[in-house]
Amino acid sequence: MGNVAVLERQDSGAATLENVIVEWIGRVGVVTLNRPQALNALSEGLIRDLENALDHFENEPGTHVIVITGSEKAFAAGADIKEMVDKTYMDAYLGDFITTGWERLSQCRKPVIGAIAGYALGGGCELAMMCDILIAADNAKFAQPEITIGTIPGAGGTQRLTCAIGKSKAMEMCLTGNMISATDAEKAGLVSRVVPLDQLRQEALILAEKIASMSLPVAMMVKECVNRSYETTLTEGLKFERRVFHSTFALEDRKEGMEAFIGKRKPVFKGE
Ligand code: CAA
Repeated sequence: MGNVAVLERQDSGAATLENVIVEWIGRVGVVTLNRPQALNALSEGLIRDLENALDHFENEPGTHVIVITGSEKAFAAGADIKEMVDKTYMDAYLGDFITTGWERLSQCRKPVIGAIAGYALGGGCELAMMCDILIAADNAKFAQPEITIGTIPGAGGTQRLTCAIGKSKAMEMCLTGNMISATDAEKAGLVSRVVPLDQLRQEALILAEKIASMSLPVAMMVKECVNRSYETTLTEGLKFERRVFHSTFALEDRKEGMEAFIGKRKPVFKGE
């Protein structure tokens, strides 16, 4: 938690931690993975900085949506192999490797958009899949190459990839380590769309700003309900959705949204 104090909203709009750059763009928080010398390999330090940035944006009431991105060459080339190479089974097991910090992204309650350019490999692909919406640049490449270095995906690859693209494609990727292109990732349903590299950031921000203009609690409820579909049966998921739908009737934003529609004006959501 050492860096959290640094992350007060900066007048300059940006702050640089050792391995990530943090930006405040209106109601959108942007985290850029920034370890170019290692293609954003996910070292302990990078994961800790990412966790701190996410903690900050989750706790900051003014931030409604988070965007995570990397460099043009790499979103992230995976867990840091140089840090892993000498680990023993006991190091991995007792330290619960790939848990602390790594799971923070999947626990975010605010919507998270992944803007992916270049390599999203191994843990990088897994981190991307923890986001709610993925936009890929046309140079993005996705793979789970762990088998080629004698291990298996450890941050959810076998599970989230299978949910996202189905068994046959997930098996082929995990068993061969082959990369798929942005276009194939879109066809398979891994990403929602592909944009030219030079428009990636702008497209992600436009999407983020649109979501950020909605009622924050309602956006968070939508996220919670969609995610529930991965965890439960249809009957239970529908019940959960119905109850959350009912709870929107406790919100002023719900009344405002409906009155604005009837009054033929834009709603002004206050997040309450
Ligand atoms: N860990 C540590 N360092 C890495 C790295 C990684 N995952 N990926 C790249 N780097 C480093 C390289 O070692 C190199 O450093 P040096 O300059 O000090 O040699 C630097 O980044 C640039 O990389 P390359 O020279 O290899 O660049 P390239 O353009 O020739 O190749 C690449 C790019 C195809 C992405 C290649 O770097 C690569 O294959 N990387 C490893 C990909 C991988 O296997 N990822 C899975 C890791 S395991 C995992 O993620 C487990 C899990 O499920 C959590």
